[in-house]
Amino acid sequence: MPVAKNGRTILLGEDDLEVRRYLETALRCQGYSVEVAQDGEEVLASLRANQTPISAVVLDVIMPRRGGIDALKEIRRFNRDLPVIVISGASSALNVVEAMKNGANDFIAKPIKPEDLRKALKLVLEATPPVVLNPIEPTAAPANKQILFGTSPQMRELQRTLGQIGWSEAPVLIQGETGTGKEVLARELHACSPRAKKSLLKINCAALPSELVESELFGYERGAFTGAFEKKPGMFALADGGTILLDEIGDMDFKLQAKLLQVLQDQEFQRLGGRDTIKVDVRVIAATHSNLDKAIAESNFREDLYYRLNVISIRVPPLRERREDIIPMAEFLLAKHTTAGVVPVQIPPALRELFLHYHWPGNVRELENMIRKLIVFREASSVEQDLRDKLRQRPVNGSTLAETVQAPPAATPVLEQVAMAKREAERAAIVSALKSTNWNRRQASILLQIDYKALLYKMTKLSIKKEKPAPQPIQTRTNAPSALPQPLFPQQVSPPVFARRATGVVPRQASSCSR
Ligand SMILES: Nc1ncnc2c1ncn2[C@@H]1O[C@H](COP(=O)(O)OP(=O)(O)OP(=O)(O)O)[C@@H](O)[C@H]1O
Ligand SMILES: [Mg+2]
Repeated sequence: MPVAKNGRTILLGEDDLEVRRYLETALRCQGYSVEVAQDGEEVLASLRANQTPISAVVLDVIMPRRGGIDALKEIRRFNRDLPVIVISGASSALNVVEAMKNGANDFIAKPIKPEDLRKALKLVLEATPPVVLNPIEPTAAPANKQILFGTSPQMRELQRTLGQIGWSEAPVLIQGETGTGKEVLARELHACSPRAKKSLLKINCAALPSELVESELFGYERGAFTGAFEKKPGMFALADGGTILLDEIGDMDFKLQAKLLQVLQDQEFQRLGGRDTIKVDVRVIAATHSNLDKAIAESNFREDLYYRLNVISIRVPPLRERREDIIPMAEFLLAKHTTAGVVPVQIPPALRELFLHYHWPGNVRELENMIRKLIVFREASSVEQDLRDKLRQRPVNGSTLAETVQAPPAATPVLEQVAMAKREAERAAIVSALKSTNWNRRQASILLQIDYKALLYKMTKLSIKKEKPAPQPIQTRTNAPSALPQPLFPQQVSPPVFARRATGVVPRQASSCSR
């Protein structure tokens, strides 16, 4: 019986002829059109040829010339949205992790049951494509609304001017150390602007390679470059009437800065590979924890862009410069994170004392993490111990980090010391989070409340590497096919069968269907 086409084309990369035919049949039975490729090179060539819009790719891990993971990496260099399902006969944890780490949407172990393939495709296709990164809903319920809290004179002054700055159409540049609340402030500014009913879209320029930042911001036409399988509008077009938050602007690629300058000047841009000029009305808020003056001096940041962004400039002070905020902020965060109906934990006097003495290199985020820990353990001793340990650390010239950071910026060597101390503080916070999560980077990023990719970026930048673990009884990935468990599906059984996902094998005869 002919199968109704669903209008979607799946690109199947599988080197084994029998498996390929088998999966192709299964996919056609499910209404998909199928393009086949025998190895990773052919998969990429087929995507580059760009003749048929591909809805998803199914990729085998081990293939000659170019394996599936390698092909996946190449696809993800240019396209984050195309769903990719990785399949493998060697379903070791390492393979699964490798696939997911490189951006696979799903992993199915061979032998494959058609039902599992159907379900996996349905899921990844339904979830496609979230065209924007981290959209921040302007209509979020008031309960979820972030409040820029603070009782110190500096924060009161900031709160006082929020409405005024929010209502202005001018670009805003927010500078401040990590965790000081730059994003909270940006959200507040958007929320009290006439654009509040439209979107606030955020992109973290440090977390993505520059090609991706460019395509996320400006979009592209179909066929603009390898991997541009479908047209993408871009954030500037999507945020029309609203606001864009360019987070970590200091890390934006120098060449891309010129393109951004053009949008800021003319409120228009062109998509990659497109000829039309698109007019937009977007307000830009930029945030950074890096020193833009230094970046300009070192020719890493365009001065003209700096002046365009810096129409309204806000510096969010670090917590150690507004110590009056520490205890009220701790109480505020305690209330924020305490579940309704649960008896609130108290902050004992000894802990308050330590809070006041600590230098808070991670600022409010670090304080928030400690409060969350306090809520989980419901007693203060481990938080107190953490703080005492941190206070004992003397990273530079025998002085405490707080003393170093607060030292007057009299001469360049001191500034260098400050930068070093800042790096050390960031390093210490990241290593501590990684250790406390047993080096699980995703959990550590949640603990640190930073984007997962930003954490990976910072780990590379600060050369943070996991100490070598004891040898695990886990299969190591290798490109040599001989190292794989043999035989691979479907040589064990004939005619081919599909089987349950993961390891449980449920042999079943494939039903025939017309192509
Ligand atoms: N003034 C504040 N009021 C309420 N919460 C705050 C405030 N400042 C920071 N926070 C809390 O601290 C966390 C970190 O804030 P935010 O993400 O805005 O920092 P950031 O300056 O953007 O840091 P980074 O440079 O690392 O991106 C937030 O999750 C928020 O809960
Ligand atoms: Mg931020």
